[in-house]
Amino acid sequence: MALTIGIDIGGTKILAGVVDMGGIVLDQVKVPTPGDPDAMAEAIGGVIRRLRDQHDVTAVGIGAAGFIHADRATVIFSANVAAWVNEPLRDRIEALAGLPVVVENDANTAAWAEVRFGAASGHEDVVCLTVGTGIGGAIVQGGNLVRGRHGIAGEPGHMRVVPDGLPCGCGNNGCWEQYASGNALTRYARERAAGEPEAAEKLLALGDGTADGIRGPHVTQAARLGDPVALAAFTDVGEWLGQGMADLAAMLDPSAFVLGGGVSEAGELLLRPTLTAYHRVLTRGHRPAADILVATLGPEAGLVGAADLARR
Ligand code: BGC
Ligand code: NA
Ligand code: ZN
Repeated sequence: MALTIGIDIGGTKILAGVVDMGGIVLDQVKVPTPGDPDAMAEAIGGVIRRLRDQHDVTAVGIGAAGFIHADRATVIFSANVAAWVNEPLRDRIEALAGLPVVVENDANTAAWAEVRFGAASGHEDVVCLTVGTGIGGAIVQGGNLVRGRHGIAGEPGHMRVVPDGLPCGCGNNGCWEQYASGNALTRYARERAAGEPEAAEKLLALGDGTADGIRGPHVTQAARLGDPVALAAFTDVGEWLGQGMADLAAMLDPSAFVLGGGVSEAGELLLRPTLTAYHRVLTRGHRPAADILVATLGPEAGLVGAADLARR
């Protein structure tokens, strides 16, 4: 059975694995994401060598956080991963690995896995959102990934939802991912905790006691303990997320949304306020609701999808 390597490159870690045709991960390795393009290529080459030594593989698929050219070879730009501008990633990695390589957007690879093997199997028209450092997005229509003229359709994180709003890593202001991501969750929690420290007692106790010491995982932990400030931060994110999803539905009319990424692991904490906002906008706007599904493949979705796309 033909095996391929899938690699997911995120802001903090590179996760790579050997995947079979059924989407099963047979082996995997994880290394930290380096800060510059040369070290990045080295690190990717290294994980490929490690996996190749143990398995007979035919191709490599890479999912990378950023704008990937329609040639599936070049990273045009990345808002959250260091220093990639017009990076010829495919050619560099092919030269190091001696195997055919394709490069895809990280949210596209995760979405592909969820449609082929996960939460959205059986659905043909899907919008996937990965809520993590930023917001990743993917559009599947008629069972195919929609790439657009330049390869960079499905980047809803950079839809501008607040004119002249907060600055974004992409160079613009007011992008959706500044309001409905993991980074936004932490910011809301810090702002609220600074304003009403007594209410944020549980949340503050998890960090160093200051609002600035609050980290993303603290917000989830504190919300599970019933901390009102942490719960309100989830409501802030869910409100922005749900309203944005209703906007995406107005444009794309999917049969399902899949929510993945680190923040979606908070489950109900995020889902409840998101669904409330989504249904509120939809109901007023006379639009039937899509299924809202939570990703089922976890942190491995990106590498599974990349490995599968490497066969196509
Ligand atoms: C990038 C996308 C990426 C997403 C999640 C966004 O800032 O523009 O390409 O999919 O973050 O990593
Ligand atoms: Na995308
Ligand atoms: Zn942006």
